[in-house]
Amino acid sequence: MTLTVQPLHTQFGAQITGIDLTQAIDEGLALRLRQCLADYAVLVLPKQGLNPAQFQAFGQVFGELMPQQFKKYTLDDFPFIGFNSTNDLPRKNGKLQVRGENYHTDHSNELCPPRATSLVAVQIPSVGGDTQFVDVRQAFDDLSHELKQKIKGLHSMHVLQSSRSPRSFTKLTEEEKAKIPSHLQPLVIEHPVSGRSALYLNTGRMEGVQGMPEEEGYALINHLYEHATQSKYEYRHRWQVGDLVIWDNRSVMHQANADYDPEEYRYLYRLMVTGDALRAAKA
Ligand code: SIN
Repeated sequence: MTLTVQPLHTQFGAQITGIDLTQAIDEGLALRLRQCLADYAVLVLPKQGLNPAQFQAFGQVFGELMPQQFKKYTLDDFPFIGFNSTNDLPRKNGKLQVRGENYHTDHSNELCPPRATSLVAVQIPSVGGDTQFVDVRQAFDDLSHELKQKIKGLHSMHVLQSSRSPRSFTKLTEEEKAKIPSHLQPLVIEHPVSGRSALYLNTGRMEGVQGMPEEEGYALINHLYEHATQSKYEYRHRWQVGDLVIWDNRSVMHQANADYDPEEYRYLYRLMVTGDALRAAKA
């Protein structure tokens, strides 16, 4: 087998072919995959068709798996494998809502957010339901020197759900809510492997900017979000059944799309790889 790496965008993302992940992954292949994720931030492995056990083995190549937040979205026999499906959230005025709408980075309210997240497409609608990714390292690099200097060193409180969240979250009981942490996170992080600076944004969870008047803080977040989500920073994955995608949450944001026929079913397995506490970019 010859592993082939084909870039998907000028700045990030690669498609990997020539390997069969249904077979045991030896240390040589594991090393190549880890290097590819470090180099490209988003990896697409088309039509691998992994079952939960094979998907779990793939995820473990990148580190320890992170427990799923909600039992109700977790496979019974595989506690580290969750799922995203068409039926996770109730319809809003008859309209489909899906988890993960609006660009975000996963579980940013945790002290140690997942370093990577991965999905396997089990069932996909005939049209729509793509996942989009934007490169928040390049978005940071393109800011003016003055704005970079202004935002390095700033922090935002990431909570279960921002009072200004543009997206819907799973409704929780008071007991469940009490278990969800909040953490102060840098607005600009430094990647622990590449050392690159990246914007760290999640408008669904950020409560303003610490030390800044409320309206000014949200205006700054919205400005950075608009900048980082421009189409020039985007790779859009159009799923086919069996595709596997893994991404680095410290390098890209991602979003799901509720733009498909709700009569059709979309179902993906999902896992996360445990991360470390985030490091603020040096001023
Ligand atoms: C997510 O993990 O945010 C969901 C992505 C998707 O379902 O496309």
